[in-house]
Amino acid sequence: MTSVDLVVAGCRELVTCAGPAPRRGRELRQIGCVENGWVAASRGVIVYAGTEEGFRAEVSAEPGARTIDAGGRTVLPGFVDAHTHLPFAGDRAKEFGLRIQGWTYQQLAERGMGIQTTVKATRAASLDDLLALSLKRLDRMLLTGTTTVEAKSGYGLNLDDELKQLEVLRDVAALHPVDIVPTFMGAHDVPPEYRERREEYVKLLVETIIPAVRERGLAEFFDVFCEPSAFSLEETRALVEAAKAAGFKIKIHADEFVPLGGASLAAEIGAVSAEHLIALSDEGIERLAASPTAAVLLPGVPFFLMMDKRAPARRLIDAGAVVALASDFNPGSSNISSMAFILQLGVFTLGMTVEEAIAACTVNAAYAVGRENSIGSLEPGKKMDLLICDVADHVSLAYEAARNPVCTVIKDGQVVVEDGRRVTAR
Ligand code: NIG
Ligand code: FE
Repeated sequence: MTSVDLVVAGCRELVTCAGPAPRRGRELRQIGCVENGWVAASRGVIVYAGTEEGFRAEVSAEPGARTIDAGGRTVLPGFVDAHTHLPFAGDRAKEFGLRIQGWTYQQLAERGMGIQTTVKATRAASLDDLLALSLKRLDRMLLTGTTTVEAKSGYGLNLDDELKQLEVLRDVAALHPVDIVPTFMGAHDVPPEYRERREEYVKLLVETIIPAVRERGLAEFFDVFCEPSAFSLEETRALVEAAKAAGFKIKIHADEFVPLGGASLAAEIGAVSAEHLIALSDEGIERLAASPTAAVLLPGVPFFLMMDKRAPARRLIDAGAVVALASDFNPGSSNISSMAFILQLGVFTLGMTVEEAIAACTVNAAYAVGRENSIGSLEPGKKMDLLICDVADHVSLAYEAARNPVCTVIKDGQVVVEDGRRVTAR
């Protein structure tokens, strides 16, 4: 008998997502539902997830263990948000107003707004300002089920301000229960002071900023925005080669508005993921399907930018690519931090089944941040990161549209949200 200090008992439906990661093709629908499921953990690590019968045969609760009754409710792994731009300052509400009047995201960028508006505000903010903003946002994310978040710099665009954003990520990781996967994205845009000499900014990144970030151990991933308004395919190649050589794992913002070929490059160089993909070509679909590179789709973006085009989720899944979903939380193109809502957008706007959307927000999202061995599913050996949702079955996670179903969040075996409210772990 294994002894445990935490039990989640009597889940009407327990969605484990257990099994091999990542999931491709038809396997994306295999989410491992157990009726009357029980989950048990010891010191924040899952030791059992399965039927009541199995629990009674294999597990014993140690004295003082906590038991949470999930009766009538649906339990699933904590969401992994594999793509966010968390540590920024300011907002773009005025520019949102302009977009409602018909301006496009690209037209605003061409006039020095867009990302540059946020670069100005983020450069002007102190580390403490950014820290406070980020902690508040993480609390909000936790309430809608995110237990691990990838977070990018990229609004500093010079050595000091990029380091400042990454230091904020280091500090929030120590202060907040949500796990942080830090990504250096100094190649988010060319800063205004380098507009007329962009090759010098690429050189600065390669020769100075990439090595400086690496040396300080502040980021695990390197990301670049491969798009005509930001970095060309050739510049992207030079940047990711330098970042790879420095020891970073790679992500690419690829084929978002224009099919430049960023996704094919991601597959070719062994990037962990290619993200956005709204304008992905047929060749890009084939290349991703034949590679280990995850296709991270961000349905909040076409929703928030009011675009008709969508990433080809169905074709990617059917071709066998690894598909994950993420929020792209940022102040310009997706001011959405709720993974519960992103799951719904996957179903309502990308043609995914509810089962596919759940796996894409959990097990495949964990793979997209290189954490598939420790999170993304409820099975022995993984972190006890779990959501109790006030719905009777997993289909209702989408069927009850625009609702946040998350009532309890357990992170590393601690209750951090209860009855829909943030609580401090006891
Ligand atoms: O992922 N695409 C590029 N970067 C962000 C947008 C950032 C912004 O608008 O501030 C994105 O959509
Ligand atoms: Fe992004």
